[in-house]
Amino acid sequence: MPSPKLRVLIPEQQIQRRIREIAAQIDADYPEGQLYVVGILKGACIFLSDLVRALNRQARIDFIGTASYGRGKTSSGEVKLTRDLDSTIENADVLIVEDIVDSGVTLTYLKHVLEQRKPRSVRIAALLDKPSRRLRPVEVDYVGFQIPDEFVVGYGLDYAEDYRNLRDVCVLES
Ligand code: IMP
Ligand code: MG
Repeated sequence: MPSPKLRVLIPEQQIQRRIREIAAQIDADYPEGQLYVVGILKGACIFLSDLVRALNRQARIDFIGTASYGRGKTSSGEVKLTRDLDSTIENADVLIVEDIVDSGVTLTYLKHVLEQRKPRSVRIAALLDKPSRRLRPVEVDYVGFQIPDEFVVGYGLDYAEDYRNLRDVCVLES
């Protein structure tokens, strides 16, 4: 089997610059107070780590786990919770942090689940967006980069659990 090739799509410096812009936007948009930042495991963990440190406000960090029933490079359209939050989010300003919005199935499901817990607000920040793949309309409040329909890895994103620790976002070419 030939080994997969990686092509840099978004270099590290560009990611870091964009994260500072998004953090400034978030700081400007929210009134003073604490933000409850919810990362979707595992892909969002690196984006979340950089984003929260770029914010100029108090933030709590929690994680939620989802799995789609599909395997490989496409999701099946069904989602389940595999890990829940540690705390209540009642009356909290919740910011869901995701690595990439693809079909929109994961975020549509999660937003619905979290909204039922009576938070003050729920917004979404996603590093990457593949709008051409959308099956469910989902409002993403903060988007890092829109990308074409290519499978990407790095900066948290994996293919079969590999490549998450790459500093750049790369296209995985087989
Ligand atoms: P959605 O529910 O189809 O929007 O899927 C979102 C999830 O699919 C993301 O959280 C990723 O885990 C995964 N995903 C979608 N596209 C890619 C990709 O290009 N590379 C790696 N993971 C991806
Ligand atoms: Mg994910």
